[in-house]
Amino acid sequence: MYYPDDLIEEIRLKNDIVEVISDYVKLQKKGSSYFGLCPFHNEKSPSFSVTPSKQMYYCFGCGEGGNVFTFLMKYENDTFPEAVSRLADRAGIELPKAEYSNEEKKDRDIKTKILEVNKEAAKFFYHQLRSPNGEQGYRYFKERGLSDETMTKFGLGYSLKYSNSLYEYLKKKGYDDEILKESGLVKYSEKGMYDAFWNRVMYPIMDNGNKVIGFGGRVLGDGKPKYINSPETKVFDKGRNLYGMNFARTSRRGNIIICEGYMDVIALHQAGVDNAVASLGTAFTPGHAHMIKRYTDQVLLTFDSDGAGVKAALRAIPILRNAGLSVKVINMRPYKDPDELIKNMGTDEFEKRIVEAENAFIYEIRMLMNQFDLKDPDEKTRFYGQVADRLLLFSDEMERNVYVDTVCEEFMIPKESMERLVYKKSLTYTGEPAAQSRVNETEKNTKKQDDGVKQSQKILLTWLIEDNTIYDKIKSIITESDFIDPFYNKVATKLFEQLGRGEVNPARILSSFTGEDEQKEAAGLFHASLSEGLSNQEKEKSLNEIIKKVKNNSLDYVSNTTTDVGVLQNTIKEKAKLRNLHISI
Ligand code: CTP
Ligand code: MN
Repeated sequence: MYYPDDLIEEIRLKNDIVEVISDYVKLQKKGSSYFGLCPFHNEKSPSFSVTPSKQMYYCFGCGEGGNVFTFLMKYENDTFPEAVSRLADRAGIELPKAEYSNEEKKDRDIKTKILEVNKEAAKFFYHQLRSPNGEQGYRYFKERGLSDETMTKFGLGYSLKYSNSLYEYLKKKGYDDEILKESGLVKYSEKGMYDAFWNRVMYPIMDNGNKVIGFGGRVLGDGKPKYINSPETKVFDKGRNLYGMNFARTSRRGNIIICEGYMDVIALHQAGVDNAVASLGTAFTPGHAHMIKRYTDQVLLTFDSDGAGVKAALRAIPILRNAGLSVKVINMRPYKDPDELIKNMGTDEFEKRIVEAENAFIYEIRMLMNQFDLKDPDEKTRFYGQVADRLLLFSDEMERNVYVDTVCEEFMIPKESMERLVYKKSLTYTGEPAAQSRVNETEKNTKKQDDGVKQSQKILLTWLIEDNTIYDKIKSIITESDFIDPFYNKVATKLFEQLGRGEVNPARILSSFTGEDEQKEAAGLFHASLSEGLSNQEKEKSLNEIIKKVKNNSLDYVSNTTTDVGVLQNTIKEKAKLRNLHISI
């Protein structure tokens, strides 16, 4: 959905940032800003600031910053349109209705209906568990150590012994067979419609917005199958949902713990480990990893310690790593899963296991090692070869060296031999040693230069936002087109336009960026404080340096790309002028 800029701006202006954030974070006024505990990282003293005059927030601890929209995108995990719509609601502003095709409309209607059916079913199961009919189920949960509070929090329920009670109930509520089939809660045979779940304890599966998208049901004893789950439906995409994420996403632990089962997640949350999620028997997917990455950079795996669990962990690790997550593995032995470990050894022991969690690469090598009989020289050689292969996957030399050290120490492999093996293998694979290639070096140098140039554009922008008086002094020398970096150019264009009118409004500039990365980068620009603590003389010196750097680079860019001799001559003249430039502040 695309909304016009003016509407976005109206919504932003009608949602005061201090009021909005106060719904989530306790804020206290200090000078011209408000401070509170940062909701985006774990901290004990407040470094999260909200500035009414800028209508922006910034955390001095973790660097998160932005306006009301980005706050909700980050905190509620909204997309930009979702944040816009939430704030429009809050301010009583009506949004233009989206125009959908008939096909889309039908699909949305079905989705809405399935969600409604799921909610009704969840309520039905919930009440059964707490009624005399559901006594068995209630006893089952109690015996597994769940408190009433936990049962309520997870909306646990019970499906009755009769195989069509839910169907009858939903029918009475007015839902037709078609939609009930779509929901996966009801099945069809020659004898008619019947419930997919009966005589099971029920676990509603919720998405991140706490909507019930499916169910898991467990037998009360040892029967088979142990668990039945809702099929995939229009609202239940198994590869994109994690059980418990609706709670874990607001955890302040700073990482996410991934386990296998419903009971593991529930037992962990009950024990105060509120960052646990489960992939629920389905294989871990890049979609899962991608979702986790929106909340954290670090995951801990606590898959079952049996063969199947190890296999699942070994499959999940590269997927998580590819999503840019750092991975550790929690050792659960001698127990099978977190639920059993906590029950037998308590929460403190689990917390200890978290601290002791093993780096996933070391874990992978350990599991690899188990497949070889190291007493046999041939097998040992093959093991070392495979270790070297895996070490070669680290393209960063420094990182690889650190891993060579760690792996050799951990598995008592002679280090020099391993280093030689890695080197030798890298030659056969690429024709050049892994240590470093010239191409890489040149690339690195160009990148460094680029970074330096970008850095000066960034500093100049930040400076202009921080101290608007600079604008009048530099506007005859620097224009938005001197910001070569495409992103800074966008910011500069908007900022120069505002400066020209004499009203700077960083929060407005921010809402014109809808991508999360761009917003984060823009927010960073608006919050850095550069000149604080500098003497006037120092300020003047660095401002002049920065301006020269930005302008010089822009002139270089022009002269490298132009074919017009006149333009070229002009850049040479400009460059000469620049050498004698001095701006006083
Ligand atoms: N699972 C499933 N279908 C099965 C068995 C398991 O969908 N027939 C899923 C469930 O989500 C389950 C998870 O895989 O929670 C892990 O399975 P398992 O280790 O067998 O069960 P536990 O979680 O240990 O279950 P419990 O503690 O209730 O015995
Ligand atoms: Mn278990």
